[in-house]
Amino acid sequence: MSMPGHAPLVPVPPTLLEPDLLAADPAGLAEVGRLVTELTREAAGALRRRTGPLPAVTPRELTRLLDDELPDGPLPATGGGRQAVLSLARSYAAYTVDLADPRAAAHLQPPALSVAAAADVLASVFNASVDTWDSGPYAVEIERRLIRSLTDLAGYGPGADGVLTPGGTASNLQALLMARDVALRAHRDIRGGGLTGLDARPVVHCSELAHFSVARACAVLGLGEDAVRTVPVDDAHRMRPAELERALRLLAPNEVPIAVVATAGTTDYGSVDPLPELAAIAHRAGTRLHVDAAYGGGALFSERLRPLLDGIEAADTITMDLHKTAWQPAAASVLLVRDARDLAAATGLRVGYLNPDDDGAAGYDGLLGNSMATTRRADAFKVAATFLALGREGVGAMLDACHDLARDAADAVEDHPRLELTTRPTLTTVVFRYVPRAGGVSDAVNGALRRRLLAEGAALIGRTDVADAEPGTGTVRLKLTLLNPQATAHDIAELLAAVDAAGQAVEAQL
Ligand SMILES: Cc1ncc(COP(=O)(O)O)c(C=O)c1O
Repeated sequence: MSMPGHAPLVPVPPTLLEPDLLAADPAGLAEVGRLVTELTREAAGALRRRTGPLPAVTPRELTRLLDDELPDGPLPATGGGRQAVLSLARSYAAYTVDLADPRAAAHLQPPALSVAAAADVLASVFNASVDTWDSGPYAVEIERRLIRSLTDLAGYGPGADGVLTPGGTASNLQALLMARDVALRAHRDIRGGGLTGLDARPVVHCSELAHFSVARACAVLGLGEDAVRTVPVDDAHRMRPAELERALRLLAPNEVPIAVVATAGTTDYGSVDPLPELAAIAHRAGTRLHVDAAYGGGALFSERLRPLLDGIEAADTITMDLHKTAWQPAAASVLLVRDARDLAAATGLRVGYLNPDDDGAAGYDGLLGNSMATTRRADAFKVAATFLALGREGVGAMLDACHDLARDAADAVEDHPRLELTTRPTLTTVVFRYVPRAGGVSDAVNGALRRRLLAEGAALIGRTDVADAEPGTGTVRLKLTLLNPQATAHDIAELLAAVDAAGQAVEAQL
């Protein structure tokens, strides 16, 4: 501790004396503005020199490049000042994925909106946290209001609540944590007593196309991946209600169904399980319905696609990822909960140094008890900025545009002599394959052609495996995940031409 009037014993490093060292004061904010301008200028220059959504480098070439550029790694003992940061920004923009390139169509990873990215800078500047009221009062209030608006949109009543999480994986985990604790309440207080020695065997039902995070959550929650019972889907890739009923009927006496997980927007097909039927079956069986709408949740903003989510209000919990179909920079996932008491039972918490009872009673309450996290970013800020700027209509129009694009792309695949459509799109994905001239090589050719496109960097498409493929067609499929609302039919034609050319080149080498 330095004493008034005493010179410090150790000389102060000059950086500590910089008046603009800290972002959240007027001098710091001005420096953030200058730095952002310079960094974005460097990035824009690098972007202009790019030729596609991916850099045309192999993983090994990129490793070598970083070895050269950062010989002391990203944590050097002595900093290189502004120039080091500008040079990092140049390389980052040159060698990262460019999601705004209309030929980027691989994953559920949208190009971020400018307004959201800019707002996120300010969220970083102030570095508020929403766990306690005094860690970020406005951030706490914005998240509360965002959750309220989303629960209203989903059709929940005034007793609902929710929380922002780092991703759909985390939202599904928290939903199943709640399901576990609520369902097993009659047997034991799981939160306090754990699962050891429990006679009851908790199980979770979901379709065979549910996201892997459901099984992963069961593993994390001590239920084991074997707790997942997969239910077959119909030709439209939707869970079969009659099969769910059958699976519930056939449970052993000690098996306790803790949740049915419906998917509203499967990762590959965008298919939406029949929510009203599944809700009725789940509730008749005395179990909960969780809807994983990580992908399809954006339909809440689109008049055209909203009917796909009819019945979602009957779900006990809903996952929706605003970093997928609301064009937010990650992370912006949301878990919505029909009954706030379930959320409180699973994660509610009073901690003396964060949210003591008397502070809470006086209204000084943050969101610690809604989350599995403690420190938590003000992610609601960028979401609010986006919707205040564009409205729900603006975001819905983006989803509609991508939906149109997917339908046009499916038509183009159907018309293409060397491509074969797997299924018509529901949301914004198109699953198909390149059909090689020789039989029996479909998987090898489709896998290799995608890697060829990765190496060239000029087109970025997805890949998946299908379980119900026609005999002789292999299981590997290509996938366009279309989330660029400014992409055009011409871009799709270019993507498909690139797939065709790569397929032919791979075949020529067989
Ligand atoms: C249906 C579904 N649920 C959950 C997730 C996981 O989301 P996240 O990557 O945000 O954890 C995904 C990711 O694609 C998904 O498609």
